[in-house]
Amino acid sequence: MSDAIGTANRIAAEEIERQKQFCAEIRKLNEGRPGGLPLAYTQTYGCQQNVADSQRLMGMLQDMGCGFTQDPFEAGIIVINTCAIRENAEKKVFGVVGQLVHAKEKNPDLIICLCGCMAQQEVVAAKIKNSYRHVDMVFGPQALWKFPELLYGVYTDHKRTFSIADEHGAIAEGLPVVRESGVKAWVSVMYGCNNFCSYCIVPYVRGRERSREPSDVLAEVRSLAEAGYREITLLGQNVNSYGKDLDEPMDFADLLREIDKIPGDYLVRFMTSHPKDAGRKLFETMAECSHVAKQLHLPVQSGSSRVLKAMNRGYTREQYLEKVRMAREAMPEVVLTSDIIIGFPGETEAEAMETVSLIEEVRYDALFTFIYSPRPGTPAAKMPDPVSRGEKQVWFDRLLDAQNRISGELHRAYVGRTLRVLVDGESGDSAWPLSSRTAGGRLVHLQGDGSLIGRYIDVRITGSNTWALFGETL
Ligand code: SAH
Ligand code: SF4
Ligand code: F3S
Repeated sequence: MSDAIGTANRIAAEEIERQKQFCAEIRKLNEGRPGGLPLAYTQTYGCQQNVADSQRLMGMLQDMGCGFTQDPFEAGIIVINTCAIRENAEKKVFGVVGQLVHAKEKNPDLIICLCGCMAQQEVVAAKIKNSYRHVDMVFGPQALWKFPELLYGVYTDHKRTFSIADEHGAIAEGLPVVRESGVKAWVSVMYGCNNFCSYCIVPYVRGRERSREPSDVLAEVRSLAEAGYREITLLGQNVNSYGKDLDEPMDFADLLREIDKIPGDYLVRFMTSHPKDAGRKLFETMAECSHVAKQLHLPVQSGSSRVLKAMNRGYTREQYLEKVRMAREAMPEVVLTSDIIIGFPGETEAEAMETVSLIEEVRYDALFTFIYSPRPGTPAAKMPDPVSRGEKQVWFDRLLDAQNRISGELHRAYVGRTLRVLVDGESGDSAWPLSSRTAGGRLVHLQGDGSLIGRYIDVRITGSNTWALFGETL
C-alpha cells in the first residue's frame, strides 16, 4: 500500500475516496438487511486523542448507514476504542470485551471490533485471536482510516481480520466526523510521539511524530468557529514538537498566532505541552492571543531530578520550575495543571517527597496523579522496582492530601469574584444542573436551564470545594 501514501506521509486523496466507496458499499449491504439498518455501539477509553479518533470512526459508521445506540445488545456493530497507558485500563477492556460474548450469542450477525492503542500491541492481538474468538476485527490507531475497507472484508469474506502492522503512521485528511457536542470540539494538530519517556507505551502504539499541514488545521478550526463551536481543543502528545517535520517548518506558537486570527466567539485550548520544549515564545504568544485560554497543562511527572533523568524527560526540577516562573511572568493568572507518577522503579521515599515539595512550591490548580504501572516493552519495565504497592500508595495519598488542600485554598480565593464562563453541558446533578468552565478551564456548577448551554455568561462565585466552584448567574 506504500504507493497510496502521498507526499509528506499523507494518505493520498484517491485512497480516502476509495474508503468512502467502501462506506457506500457497506451502506448498500446494510440497506438490504431484513431487520433494517444496523445500530452501532461505540465505547472509548483513554485520552482525548482517542475520543477524537472515535468521532472519526463514528463519522465512517454514519456514512455506512448506521445509527447509534447506548445498548450493546441492540447493536449490529460494536467498536471498542482502547487505551494501553496503564495495566488497569487494559484489564477493564478485557472485562468489557469478555462480557460481549453474550451479545454475540444473542445476535450471531453482530460484528465486534477492537481498536486503539491496546489493539496495536502484538501480545494483545494474540490474546484476542486465541481467547476472545467472538471479536471479529482488531486494528491499531495507524489503520483507522482503513476501517471501511477492513470492515467490508469482514462482511464479505466472513473472516476475522487483524491489522496491526507496525506502521510509523501517516496522516489522513478528509475523514468524516460525528462530533458529540455542538459546543466543544477536538482538533488533532499532530499524531504520534518521539519522546520515549522510559515508562510510556505511547510511542510504541501511536507511531512517530507527524504534523498536519497548517492549512488543514486552520481550515478545520475556521469551519468549527463558523459553525458556532465555542471551545476548540488542539491535540497532540507533545504539541510543542508541532511542525518540526513539515516541508516548511512552523512551530506551535506560530500556529496559535495563525489560529487566533480566525474570527469568532471561541476559545482555544491545547494539550499536551512537554516542559522540555515549552518556552518563552509559547507563553508570550499565549498571553498575546485573545482566543487562546490562559491555561497550561505542563506535566512534570516527578519533582526529583534523578527520577526525571531515569524517566528520560529531558529537564531537571530546576529547569521545570524556571519554565513555570516564565509562564506566570507572561500570564499572571494562568491556570496550571500537571500529571504526576508516583512509584517509578527505584524511586525512594525522599524522592517521592521531592515531588510533594514541588507541588507545594508550584501550587497547581489541579493534578492528574498516577501510581506507576509497568508497560511491557518499555525500558522502565525492566528496571528493578523493589518498593511495594502498599508503600507507593502511602506516598500517593500524601501527594493527594497536599494537592486537595492546595486546590481547596485556590478555589476558595475565587469566592465573591465575578467570572465569565462558558456553559458547556448538563451535570446530571439536580441541585446544580449545569456545568460550565472559566476561561482557565475551572469547573463551575450552576443553577439554570438548558437554554444557557453554549453561551458565555457572567457568574458570581458563591462557593467552592476541592474539585469545583459553585456560582449564580447574574
Ligand atoms: N504526552 C503526554 C502524556 C500522555 S499519557 C505528556 O507527555 O505529558 C498521560 C499521563 O499518563 C502521563 O503524563 C503520565 O503521567 C501517565 N502515564 C504514562 N505512562 C504511565 C505508566 N506506565 N504508569 C503510570 N502512569 C503513566
Ligand atoms: Fe509518553 Fe513521554 Fe510521549 Fe508523553 S511525551 S506520550 S509521556 S513518551
Ligand atoms: Fe491511552 Fe493511547 Fe491515549 S495509550 S492515553 S489512548 S494515546
